[in-house]
Amino acid sequence: MLDTQTRPFSDRQFRQALGLFPTGVAVVTGLARDQRKLGVTVNSFTSVSLSPPLISFNLDKKLKSIDEWLSADFFAVHFLAEGQEAISGGFACAEKDKWIGLNAVSGVTPCPLLQSKLAVFECEQFAHHEAGDHFIMIGKVLHFSIDQEARPLLYHGGSYRRLAQPHVA
Ligand SMILES: Cc1cc2nc3c(=O)[nH]c(=O)nc-3n(C[C@H](O)[C@H](O)[C@H](O)COP(=O)(O)O)c2cc1C
Repeated sequence: MLDTQTRPFSDRQFRQALGLFPTGVAVVTGLARDQRKLGVTVNSFTSVSLSPPLISFNLDKKLKSIDEWLSADFFAVHFLAEGQEAISGGFACAEKDKWIGLNAVSGVTPCPLLQSKLAVFECEQFAHHEAGDHFIMIGKVLHFSIDQEARPLLYHGGSYRRLAQPHVA
């Protein structure tokens, strides 16, 4: 049954409606100017442009490390694979050092990488734009690696999901 809302609607109602759009899950890693390793779980990843190769994700202005993200020269977007729910939860948690117990892998930029299971895109920051209570972060892809056999972790209605059907190439 259709539930309709006109402004003013609550943040909760709006968030619930947006959650009906199924997405993947990504962890973005970065390196702050003081060399502190950054990381955040996002499902706001979008491809933006093929030439030049641009991607984007949105960051909440309330993130503790938002200033570091805005000034980071490089970041890396890791698409999470099935079974990486704990990695997603760890990088969504604001209360702890998100990198404890994880090995950083080196890539083509100074940005620390996670062991990739599905895809990783190493980017230089191309631009960021203020948009309401978020910033739209845009990265120019310098390098990527993918595993076409891996299955993605999905997110829908506030829960992690898995593809129902095996991947067909
Ligand atoms: C599946 C999932 C998707 C998320 N997507 C986003 C997102 O797109 N943008 C965002 O700012 N926060 C998103 N979050 C919340 C952040 O991961 C979380 O607020 C952040 O890691 C807190 O970091 P901080 O310690 O820098 O404040 C998401 C969380 C989960 C579990």
